[in-house]
Amino acid sequence: MSDQTILPIIAVLGGTGKEGKGLTYRWAKAGYHVIIGSRTPEKAQAAAAELATLLSATPDTGMLLSPPAHLEGTDNLNAASKADILVLTVPYSAHRSTLESIREDAQGKILIDVTVPLVPPKVTKVQMPEAGSAALEAHQVLGAGVEVVDAFQNISYDYLIGDKRGDCDVLVAGTSKVARQKVLKLVEAAGFTGWDAGPIENTMVIEGLTSVLIGLNIQFGSQHTGIKITGIKK
Ligand SMILES: NC(=O)c1ccc[n+]([C@@H]2O[C@H](COP(=O)([O-])OP(=O)(O)OC[C@H]3O[C@@H](n4cnc5c(N)ncnc54)[C@H](OP(=O)(O)O)[C@@H]3O)[C@@H](O)[C@H]2O)c1
Repeated sequence: MSDQTILPIIAVLGGTGKEGKGLTYRWAKAGYHVIIGSRTPEKAQAAAAELATLLSATPDTGMLLSPPAHLEGTDNLNAASKADILVLTVPYSAHRSTLESIREDAQGKILIDVTVPLVPPKVTKVQMPEAGSAALEAHQVLGAGVEVVDAFQNISYDYLIGDKRGDCDVLVAGTSKVARQKVLKLVEAAGFTGWDAGPIENTMVIEGLTSVLIGLNIQFGSQHTGIKITGIKK
């Protein structure tokens, strides 16, 4: 990215799933070039076509999206090599293997880790990996050449796909303030209020909160419990 006015290209790895498609929808709608990554290129292409149809049917999309220029689908590796910012939206069981596969192409970039280290069947219980969190594990796997930032762990896909507005906030923690600021811009572009939640060690709290929210969803029959920061005006 040489020109600050040019928006970064975003690759959503595992972007064929619920959370990844939702984020892709939001960023494509905001005018970003988003590449959906998958283990199967055809599946990614189908997801891109599905979202392009959904976006073109949305009244206030404007002229920002002109597929295939702004939305495309390919394999995870190709997506990672073409993008400036990588977003990881795979189940925790696929976290390490997906990171290892894109390690080289991730160097010098930001990885937004959306993964929650859930351990089925007890997904309402916080069970952090040995590294401390999924993000800390990603940092170990990718090395110091990659900025790793957590975001969106506490936002249900239900509030991403389409234009349903959730009154919930996004906590952003990661390896540097500069990287967190870049991710906060993407949080805003996705339509949410983001907060700089500090260093990467704090990701264990953000990721752990998701189990608490899933537990509340079950108790109260909701699909989209979220969090809201209070006591500060933005
Ligand atoms: N769903 C939510 O509301 C939500 C909210 C916050 C955070 N999250 C977190 O976001 C991540 C994704 O959640 P999701 O609900 O979108 O998951 P998902 O729909 O179950 O899976 C997402 C994608 O991951 C890929 N994948 C699945 N198994 C894989 C494997 N063994 N190896 C490599 N890739 C694999 C698949 O893509 P391909 O088959 O195309 O490769 C799949 O479409 C999870 O870590 C979750 O905890 C989810």
